[in-house]
Formats: sequence, C-alpha cells, structure tokens
Amino acid sequence: MTLHPPSKPAWNGLTETRQTLPSDAYLSDEAYRRDLDAIWYRHWIHACRASDLAEPRAFRLTRIGDQEILLLRHEDGSLCAFHNSCRHRGAALKSEECGRLAGRLIVCPYHAWSYSLDGALVRTSSKVLPDGFDKAAHGLHPVAVAEWRGFVFVNLSAAPGAAVDGFDSDPAMLANWPLERLERGPVYRKEIACNWKVFWDNYNECLHCPGVHPELSALVPIYGRGLMERRDDPAWQAHADDEAPQFSGRLRSGAETWSGDGSAKGRAFAGLTDENRQAGQSYVTHLPSFFVVGHVDYVRSVSLRPLGPARTELTAEWYFTQETRPETAEALDNVVAFGSLVLDQDAAICEINQRGLSALPHRHGTLMPEEYEIARFHAWVLSRTG
Ligand code: FES
Ligand SMILES: [Fe+2]
Repeated sequence: MTLHPPSKPAWNGLTETRQTLPSDAYLSDEAYRRDLDAIWYRHWIHACRASDLAEPRAFRLTRIGDQEILLLRHEDGSLCAFHNSCRHRGAALKSEECGRLAGRLIVCPYHAWSYSLDGALVRTSSKVLPDGFDKAAHGLHPVAVAEWRGFVFVNLSAAPGAAVDGFDSDPAMLANWPLERLERGPVYRKEIACNWKVFWDNYNECLHCPGVHPELSALVPIYGRGLMERRDDPAWQAHADDEAPQFSGRLRSGAETWSGDGSAKGRAFAGLTDENRQAGQSYVTHLPSFFVVGHVDYVRSVSLRPLGPARTELTAEWYFTQETRPETAEALDNVVAFGSLVLDQDAAICEINQRGLSALPHRHGTLMPEEYEIARFHAWVLSRTG
C-alpha cells in the first residue's frame, strides 16, 4: 500500500479518496467473531504487569473475548499461562481475579484433579484409572506468555517460549524510560459502547482533537490544528525547521507534561534526552490491545478488551518510579484528572461514532488525508480478517 505517493514524498496525507471498513465490520456478531478468531486469538495481547505476579505461586486471570487465561508465577521465577480449563470435564480452575495458590498444585474445584505449576496432571480423584488413560496427555492447555519491559503479554496461537513481537510503532521510542521499574499509580476503567475498532480509528487521527479535546489541543498546539505530527500538513515544508509547538508537535511553551496546568508534578525520569523531554509525549503501540505513552515524569498505558460487537473495556494506568511519583494527592490528581478527561472525551465521541454507524444507508465511511493512519489500521485488520 502506498501512503506516500512519489509526487509528495514526505507528506503523510492520503491523496486518494478511500473508504473505511464496511459498517458491518463494527456492528455484526459475525464480524465480531471473525475479529476474535483472526486477531484477538492470534496476536500478543497485553495482560498485566510482571509485578502483578511478583510472588511465587501468585496467579491472575485475564480474559480475551470468551477465553480465560490463568497466569501463574512458577516457583522457579518464570511466568506460565494456561487456559483456565480443567482437562477432566472443562471446569474453570480459578474464579478469583487474582490470588496466591496455597500449595504447589492447581486443584480443580469440581472433582479435584490436581496439576503441577508446569501444568502436568499430578493426580485425579478416582480410585483407579481406566485402561488406556494417559496421564501425560492430560496436562493443562498451555498459552504462550512473554514479558516486554515489565508488561506481560499472552498469545493464544504462539508457541510457548516465543517473544512478544508485532509492535505497531518502534518500541525503541521508550528506550530511555525505565519501564521495568515502574510502579502502578491510579487506574481508570470504563466500558465504552463501541466496537474495539472504533476506539483505534479515533486513536489514529487528530482531526477530532480541536472539537473534542479543547484542553489537550491547548497543551499540544499541533493537535489544535487537527494534526498528529509535522508532516501531516500538506504545506509542512514551509515550516520544516520551525520548532514552534504548532509545527513541531512539542507541548505549548512553558508546559512540561500532560497535566492540568502543564507542569510536571514529580521529578523527571533521569535517563531522558533533551529530545525525549521536548517531545512531550512518546508513544509505543501494540495492536490490538495496548499502547503506552512516556511523558517526562510518568508513563501511562491504555489496554483494551473487546466485550461484544459494540462493547469495549478500556483500562488506563498511570505509572511512576519512586523518584518521579508526585508527593501530594493534589499533584497526583492534577496528572490523572487531565488524562482521565481526555479519555472520557474519547470514550464519549467513540460512542457517538458507534451509534451513527447503524444507520441503514451508511455502508462505509470516507477517509480524509489526515486519516492516513486509519487507512493503515484498516489494511492491518483486512490483512487478517480477509
Ligand atoms: S472438571 Fe476438573 S476435576 Fe472434574
Ligand atoms: Fe482523542
């Protein structure tokens, strides 16, 4: 797919009229099922932080569509993951969201089949085993689990032992942030009445920013122009060397971070370069479930879960290190309230987008030049779902 036609080599914009995905892709049970099977059950999906499973025998459930995955910290320190399903008659092994196993066995609550932390069947509760029963063939169904810089991902299709891949943007963008050492602060969770792809469509453009995010647009002046970055403007070359925020994408003059008043509330991360600090926001995206943003004094992650054709769960988490954590509740609130406001605005506009998609004559939408990243996202979806 050519998004940068040769006649305008460096402008990001789309030059030809393109259609969005068909409306049905956002509405029907069939399309939802297809998304689960072709995307959510085949890619690395963000689950939690490694520190959420710090202790040996700590466990946690994560859900993807109608699949439940049991994550476990083995006594040897490794992470393991299994389908939350007993090999006897399929009962869920765990129902609590998280906890710690009392002993070294995973015991099914139904008839007490017991499994080692490796998932091997150790014993059944029957007096004798029937002829032909192979204990070794009745271990828990494994799920690939891997860690990327303190964030844990699972993959229902990858081979156990595989590494997290498939980032949508360069993970080195956050190389200078101490992601492994982060400690979780406040958490924002919301169910949005929209298809999961509506959320990503909205994430992938800033045409909506001036109208939907007045506060953010004041903080990040290029967003106030409806653009995500310098080369989104067809006339960008006229300002190619201009570092003024409305052209460069930096925060407004005097602002240091995404917060209510633009000031950093804790100390800045020690390892950042001038460029990192000036960028204001540095994103790493991992479709379909996750993005993480580095600011000078904190990191924010956003995680998605599809709950139905028109229902999506959104979880945002704020992270600090001990050095950067704001010292007062008021300072912390200044950071979290700002991010929550932006998320609330996005959630509300996504619901509005979803409602209008069901209009019978609306078969598909039309993309404008600034929506080149949506075109790329839709190509990504279609390459998987056909
Ligand atoms: S279903 Fe698990 S022991 Fe019977
Ligand atoms: Fe937005």
